[in-house]
Parts: sequence; C-alpha cells; structure tokens
Amino acid sequence: MNAALDLSPTTAPLHRSDQNAPTTGASTNHTMQVRDVHKAFGDFKVLQGLTIDFKDNAITTVLGPSGTGKSVLLKHLVGLLAPDQGEVRVFGQDIWKLSEHERYEMRKRFGVLFQDGALFGSMNVYDNVAFPLRKHTDLSEAEIGHTVMTRLSEVGLERSAHKFPSEVSGGMRKRAGFARGLILNPDIVLFDEPDSGLDPVRTSLLCDLIKKMHDEHGGTYLLVTHNIQAARSTSDYVGMVWQGKLVHYGATEDAFATEDPFVRQFLAGDSAGPLGMD
Ligand SMILES: Nc1ncnc2c1ncn2[C@@H]1O[C@H](COP(=O)(O)OP(=O)(O)OP(=O)(O)O)[C@@H](O)[C@H]1O
Ligand SMILES: [Mg+2]
Repeated sequence: MNAALDLSPTTAPLHRSDQNAPTTGASTNHTMQVRDVHKAFGDFKVLQGLTIDFKDNAITTVLGPSGTGKSVLLKHLVGLLAPDQGEVRVFGQDIWKLSEHERYEMRKRFGVLFQDGALFGSMNVYDNVAFPLRKHTDLSEAEIGHTVMTRLSEVGLERSAHKFPSEVSGGMRKRAGFARGLILNPDIVLFDEPDSGLDPVRTSLLCDLIKKMHDEHGGTYLLVTHNIQAARSTSDYVGMVWQGKLVHYGATEDAFATEDPFVRQFLAGDSAGPLGMD
C-alpha cells in the first residue's frame, strides 16, 4: 500500500459464507463497470472510449501493450483519477457522483497490490499487515494478532512476521503486501503487475496463491500483467486493452482460442500483426 494514497479498507473483517450473497444490496452485481471512459493528459489521449463490465466474483486479467492505459484504468477504478468523459461505476454507483466522503468509504472495499508490495520499511511484516486493522477497526490487539497470523500463514509468512521488508525477498514482500491487501476481506482486489521482478517459479507460486485466496474468500479480482502464462493459469476472464479501448473480453480459454488478430498476436507475442509500437 502506498501510505499517501491510503487505499486500505476500513470495514471490520467479515467472513462471507456464501460468496455470491449480497454484501450491500445494489453491489451484488456489477461490481466494477467502466462506461465509455475518455482520459487525456494534455493532448495525449490515453483512454479513448473504454468500456468494460468486469465479471463479478471472478478473476479478470487485463492485458495490453505497454503504455496503453492499464495502470490509468486501475487508478480510475479506485477513484484516484477522474475520467474526462464517461462513467466509472463501482457497486452500481457512478463514483464521481458520490461525495468525497462516500468515495473514501467506497475505497475501503478495495484491496490494492502495487508492484513492490509497497510495505512500510520502518515496520516489520506483522505490523505492516496489522496496520489497516489498527487504523480502521476497534479490534483488540489479541483479535488483530489472530487475524494477522491467519493471513500470514495463508501466504506462508508466519515465520517471517518479525522481519522487516528489507530482510525478506521480493516474493515475500509481495506476499506480505497481498496479506495486507486482503486483511479486511475487500470485495475488490486490484493487482498491478504482481509478478514483476519475480522469477518464474515465484510467479507461479504467487499465481497459485491468488487463485487459492480467491477460491477461499471470493470477490472481484483484477490483475494487470504482461505475463501471458500467469494470465492463462490464474484468470477466469481476459480483457485486452489497445489504444485506450477494449478490444476483447471473454473467458480465458476463449481468448486463447480466438481468431481475433489483435488477441492472437498479443497472446503469441508476435511482432507481425496489427499491433505496432504505437
Ligand atoms: N499522471 C499522468 N500524467 C501524464 N501522463 C500520464 C499520467 N499517467 C499516465 N500517463 C501516460 O498515460 C499512458 C498510459 O500509462 P499507463 O501507466 O496506464 O500504461 P500501462 O498500460 O500501465 O503501461 P505498462 O504496461 O508499461 O505499465 C502512458 O503514456 C503514460 O505516460
Ligand atoms: Mg502499468
């Protein structure tokens, strides 16, 4: 988590026995919808009419060439960037029609995993993971301890709780960031290149962990990665963004079987095809 952005959830942890059960009325479906969003920085148009209805309670991977606007999309979803035109709807509500306070409350339902885990360097792993609970709930230290150690054991870090981020590997930092992102059972989890800087084995282990946590806790997960293999093994759905628009969204196995020249070229990593360097 980036402390300056403060995206940590604040609701008390809740264990949902039925992952398809509504958590808040209108939010049952349409967890995240992006409708005809345009976003430019100066003259440079990044999102150019992007529309995506993310599948609820599923893992979607968004793929696309570098610089195509994937991270910009994530920032729109958490309300850090406002569209120039179009709507970003979360739990059925246009987030820019909410008051600032309501938007802040909405963000509490997101877990966000940034590239490096974004841990606080001055806190050990335990305190990093405990941080959102201490900040946003009234749980006792004993209850916090139980929740934190449960999460840390789920990500295989129970024996590293006392270590500082500088004392653990990149993969461990990501797992700690993941444990912290999930500590309050968010309805939505966003991952921006969770595999960057990891070797292939650690990437596979992280993908397995993402799937396992999704199976156990449910929610709508959105992964952005350049790792095609990770997308294939982890996600239920694949979206592809090119030149600021969605060019494909569908079940993962269909994406890998499609005749669509954009999708085929990107998934195959071919230099020949409709995708260029622009
Ligand atoms: N705050 C900003 N101000 C100006 N330009 C920006 C800003 N944020 C992003 N951009 C530009 O928008 C474009 C899309 O950026 P973005 O980070 O979303 O790409 P991306 O698809 O995530 O790429 P990558 O796969 O390399 O991470 C880039 O050209 C980037 O320089
Ligand atoms: Mg990016």
